[in-house]
Amino acid sequence: MEKTFLMIKPDGVQRNLIGTIVERLENKGFKIVGAKLMQVSDELAKTHYGEHSERPFFGELVEFITSGPVFAMVLEGENVIKTARLVVGSTNPQEAAPGTIRGDFGLTVGKNIIHGSDSPESAEREINLFFDQSELVDYNLSNSAWIY
Ligand code: TYD
Ligand code: MG
Repeated sequence: MEKTFLMIKPDGVQRNLIGTIVERLENKGFKIVGAKLMQVSDELAKTHYGEHSERPFFGELVEFITSGPVFAMVLEGENVIKTARLVVGSTNPQEAAPGTIRGDFGLTVGKNIIHGSDSPESAEREINLFFDQSELVDYNLSNSAWIY
């Protein structure tokens, strides 16, 4: 089954949105196979957002993502990379549809609540960047027969 990486950013953690967001992800039917509260180091932030290193917002992005703890997750589900991005919503919360996490909880692109991997290559890279294989749990959810 496909896996993706999601991360509630420091703004989401500080605004006490972990529970609300995890509830939405569980309700959608995704299976959580890894999760942890952690502080992102400067090095990890720069590696994670490496594709944006030449963009004008890179410095602020790294500063923001390291400004407080994040809640990192690995989710599993059918087509989860694409469907989790739909649940997350557009990058700019001012353009994100209501009903999406960014659309419902964010107001500015610099503080847009949550990250989600954008492709199979990103998902694999980001899962391995943030999680050790031993932190991922392989198990069955009893409700999966009612989702698939
Ligand atoms: P990006 O990968 O384009 O968006 P997404 O998170 O939806 O995959 O950009 C990474 C993060 O960089 C984005 O979540 C917020 C920040 N960002 C800005 O601060 N300003 C910007 O103009 C853009 C495009 C992104
Ligand atoms: Mg991205």
